[in-house]
Amino acid sequence: MKTRTIAIGSQKGGVGKTTTVVNLAAWLALLKQKVLIIDFDPQGSTTRCLGMQGKASQGGLKEVFETGALDLLRQADVSCFIYPTALDNLSLLPANIAQADTEIWLNQQAVEDPDVLKNVVDLALPDYQFILIDAPPSLSALPRMAYAAADSLLIPLQCGQMALNTMPRLIELIKTVQQTVNPYLQIEGILLTLFDPAVPYSQKLLEQARKHFKGLVFNELIPRDHRLSEATAAGRPVVLYDMHSPGSRAYRQLAEFLRYKYHPDSDTATA
Ligand SMILES: Nc1ncnc2c1ncn2[C@@H]1O[C@H](COP(=O)(O)OP(=O)(O)OP(=O)(O)O)[C@@H](O)[C@H]1O
Ligand SMILES: [Mg+2]
Repeated sequence: MKTRTIAIGSQKGGVGKTTTVVNLAAWLALLKQKVLIIDFDPQGSTTRCLGMQGKASQGGLKEVFETGALDLLRQADVSCFIYPTALDNLSLLPANIAQADTEIWLNQQAVEDPDVLKNVVDLALPDYQFILIDAPPSLSALPRMAYAAADSLLIPLQCGQMALNTMPRLIELIKTVQQTVNPYLQIEGILLTLFDPAVPYSQKLLEQARKHFKGLVFNELIPRDHRLSEATAAGRPVVLYDMHSPGSRAYRQLAEFLRYKYHPDSDTATA
């Protein structure tokens, strides 16, 4: 079994990265894939969206990184801070790095040794079919570290005017990562989020994105769906809140596509 490690990233905030990590992972888990989420955003939103902030206070990425920085990291040190979630097959390595001094320290780590997160991923790999990393919204050393650890980058693109303007700098960053820390980084795809077919610029953005990034835009579109934000506020993946809502169904389609692409022979559940 080869693990597929996907970072979900964009330098732009509020485009649906965390919503995608949580709900794509939840659907992959329902399709009987063993999935690990690494919450690598100091804001810890993914950890909160899964209602796991209590676990994070018992230890998480911070402790793993402190050990990693001493070059003493072993599989036990990583698995010790991976917690089961409310869904079978879905585990979380939570973020507990929100304090300013820890974030500064982590940024220094990212500059000095961009491979620490990759080492964490390598130690966790054998147990999972998918690892999803929620990367922070910036172009700093931290997301670079997430992209260094991943096979690919999935980029959510929020359907708003000017959305495409944010892409050139991200593409530049991807090229830098490929030239420095991770020559194998692929673009998993561009995922249109908050899509509303009734809004003219949503349709226009879709056409422009398909033209601009030939073959890279997922056929699956994530609609604007208030059930997704309600589920987030309730600290649950949408499958445990309103499984049949349009947003949930869209994440299921994306999960089915990726499951079939990377693990076509694995058994699936019918949810
Ligand atoms: N498809 C959707 N329909 C409705 N609301 C959505 C959708 N996707 C995301 N949201 C809401 O938009 C807000 C931002 O989403 P989210 O937190 O996933 O973005 P993000 O890119 O992770 O943000 P940040 O950059 O701050 O980490 C949240 O309140 C979320 O509930
Ligand atoms: Mg987020």
